[in-house]
Amino acid sequence: MTDASATAPAYTGPRRILSGIQASGALHLGNYLGALKRFTALQDSGAPCFLFVADLHAITVWQDPALLAAQTREIAAAYIASGLDPAKSTIFPQSAVRAHAELAWILNCVARLGWLDRMTQFKEKSGKHKERASVGLYTYPVLQAADILLYKATEVPVGEDQKQHLELTRDIAGKFNTDFNAPGYFPLPEPLIQGPATRVMSLRDGAAKMSKSDPSDQSRINLTDDADTIASKIRKSKTDMGVMPEPGEGLDDRPEVKNLIAIYAALSDRTREEITAEFAGQGFGAFKPALADLAVSSLAPVTAEMRRLMDDPAEIDRVLRDGAERAAGIADPVIAEVKKIVGFWQA
Ligand code: AMP
Ligand code: TRP
Repeated sequence: MTDASATAPAYTGPRRILSGIQASGALHLGNYLGALKRFTALQDSGAPCFLFVADLHAITVWQDPALLAAQTREIAAAYIASGLDPAKSTIFPQSAVRAHAELAWILNCVARLGWLDRMTQFKEKSGKHKERASVGLYTYPVLQAADILLYKATEVPVGEDQKQHLELTRDIAGKFNTDFNAPGYFPLPEPLIQGPATRVMSLRDGAAKMSKSDPSDQSRINLTDDADTIASKIRKSKTDMGVMPEPGEGLDDRPEVKNLIAIYAALSDRTREEITAEFAGQGFGAFKPALADLAVSSLAPVTAEMRRLMDDPAEIDRVLRDGAERAAGIADPVIAEVKKIVGFWQA
């Protein structure tokens, strides 16, 4: 893959921030620190924010139709509970703005098979039997490119696992601009993969990402866990025989310890270096309870607000309806322009 940024004329439109979370069940601490908390921090950065619930992406693997709408509301509730203000940020369900699917088709014809063949997430998610995976799972990253480019988003805050999809988005944008002789039409969006917790690891295995698909519930902290469960998971989290590291000590051979320090730093809005300096030489008997207290006090208000909102689906639905209308206000003129650029018939 080549990065078109070196040759393409610069995009000159306004800054826009956009991201999405799949509507596929329980959110965990990785989603909170790698995504939700970061979105909230960007809300007042001067650029409008678009946060959607990726329900079209969710159905690339089987979703129970009886649960999908509730899962969508739950992600919307998590956005609001994490501090996003629906009056400032546009929060909406992806499937409610039909231009996502329309642009995805057009970009499917821009993206190359060879580019998609390299996507590691498809390889991980399709497993041993890739011929049984849905075609949607394969073209998933193209739909993601459509999500981003439909709003001409310039910045996309995500966790580390989305880096490759963002690179693909830039390649698709560059190829569209070149193929259709529309220099600078789509921006080449910047991934914002920042902060101490861009890749939160499992509490049981420092080599595995914290993920909703891990069969062990002990491996992750769910946003729906109560205080006792959170504290117990942290107390039982895997560490090693050593003590807390000294500043400057390399931690590559202590991934579990490195992960807990990163979580502490991200939750407290401090740097890993500051946390290391504070706890250097102490045992985990001192560090783990401090981390458990911090996790409980940080997550409790989010969890409580999520529960309150989930008990009031009408309020969430109002936010989603209003968000979808505002999102379509940006997306519809862009898809109309794209269809013109591609040369489709127009009345
Ligand atoms: P998903 O639930 O897969 O739609 O992911 C939603 C967001 O959470 C994306 O920005 C991911 O990059 C981020 N994310 C998911 N898992 C982790 C993790 N373990 N650490 C940091 N960020 C994560
Ligand atoms: N693929 C992302 C994930 O699993 C979710 C997503 C879909 C997304 N569309 C997006 C993220 C557009 C950023 C921008 O985490």
